[in-house]
Amino acid sequence: MAVIAVAGGTGGVGKTIVDVLTQEAKHEVIVLTRKAMSLYAFIYRNPSNGPQIQENSPILSRAKQVEVNYKDVSALTQTLNEHKVHTIISAISLYSEDDSEAQLNLIRAAEDAPETKRFMPSEYSFIQTEDLLPLDPSIKYFLDAANLLKSSRLHYTRVIPGFFMDYWGMPHTKTNLSPMTIAVDMGSCEAAIPGDGDDGIAMTYSYDMARFIARLLETDAEGWGEFSGVVGDRVTYNRLVGIGEKIRGRKFKVVYDSADKVKQGAVTVPRQPVGNGYSQEDMVEATALMDRLVIGKVFEFPAAIQSKEGEVLDLVKVEQFVREAWDGRA
Ligand SMILES: NC(=O)c1ccc[n+]([C@@H]2O[C@H](COP(=O)([O-])OP(=O)(O)OC[C@H]3O[C@@H](n4cnc5c(N)ncnc54)[C@H](OP(=O)(O)O)[C@@H]3O)[C@@H](O)[C@H]2O)c1
Repeated sequence: MAVIAVAGGTGGVGKTIVDVLTQEAKHEVIVLTRKAMSLYAFIYRNPSNGPQIQENSPILSRAKQVEVNYKDVSALTQTLNEHKVHTIISAISLYSEDDSEAQLNLIRAAEDAPETKRFMPSEYSFIQTEDLLPLDPSIKYFLDAANLLKSSRLHYTRVIPGFFMDYWGMPHTKTNLSPMTIAVDMGSCEAAIPGDGDDGIAMTYSYDMARFIARLLETDAEGWGEFSGVVGDRVTYNRLVGIGEKIRGRKFKVVYDSADKVKQGAVTVPRQPVGNGYSQEDMVEATALMDRLVIGKVFEFPAAIQSKEGEVLDLVKVEQFVREAWDGRA
């Protein structure tokens, strides 16, 4: 049984990966966590949720949690050696230099740990390349990790699912992601859409992506490409509104923000759900970023992105997903 370490396994994406891997029981799964700081981080990110402690999570109770200090590379290497970690899956959030440095140190530590052979860096979005830096400067953090991995002896692949479908099933769908409404609000039957609403968007349910990762773990890493794409469905915001109107049985109130407005950051923020702890200012910034990316067509994935491991999985389509979450609800 190979040991798989999920760094940031306490977070939304990481916990989903831990849930799937521990149910398969093919690997021994450990979670790397800063632990002592994580309670503070959780409250800070999500104040309305109150002081929940990660150890109480039924998902995390199925994996051993190992406390690490991402600032100390040699101690990290020692931990990887001690637990005979074969593969690292990072799901560390990458919003700052500090977050990025933590992941870079983990890669450096993995390079020095002889039993550690494979590394999936935290990505789980679109194909982030240098030419897109003007659209989203935080792409730098993802590129720095990819470049460091490229120069290492480690096998790696960057997992690319597009948007997570979960956002259009919340709060009724099973998900570990933080509550957020993006563009189309299935609850209030309203939408705030960038551009003309016809830009293509690849999306995948987070649990389908986790199943895809589990399959990738079964393959020979020699064959891993730079990117491993998994696409549950391809839609546009207009189509998502159409699906919502059909399932919710009523007309949606839709506002379109022109490309110029999006460029200026003057975006309409859709109504946010209970549990979204972000300030209005943060939500304007996040919405403007996501809108720029959608209008920039970064979610219009080429067909070639789809890896063969995903093709054999029965990935949920958007209409079915929204129907399962919203059908028959008031
Ligand atoms: N495509 C999409 O729709 C989508 C949506 C959401 C996220 N994502 C991507 O998925 C990845 C994970 O996101 P997430 O929302 O799951 O993240 P998250 O829940 O905000 O955080 C994940 C974990 O990262 C660890 N962490 C945070 N700051 C850290 C630091 N400075 N040093 C070390 N560890 C740190 C924390 O674990 P500990 O406190 O236990 O150490 C935390 O639980 C990111 O790359 C994000 O961009 C994609």
